[in-house]
Amino acid sequence: MHACGGKGKCTTCKMVVHEGLDTFGPDSEPETRLRGLERLAENERLACQCQLTGDIEISVAEGNKFPHVEYSA
Ligand code: FES
Repeated sequence: MHACGGKGKCTTCKMVVHEGLDTFGPDSEPETRLRGLERLAENERLACQCQLTGDIEISVAEGNKFPHVEYSA
């Protein structure tokens, strides 16, 4: 949903990473802060904060899924 406009504050863009976690760069400052607050697990990243260097497989975090959207994973 990107409720905060990509500022790393809302976590509505949270991804659960199933493959390719090593293709992400290091945590951004907002991600580090959210990990400290236990709002971001080790296999989760914020889409608005990441740059990729390879292929990944992700799913939308359960709490961020829209009820009217059908998800493949
Ligand atoms: S859009 Fe709000 S944390 Fe990514």
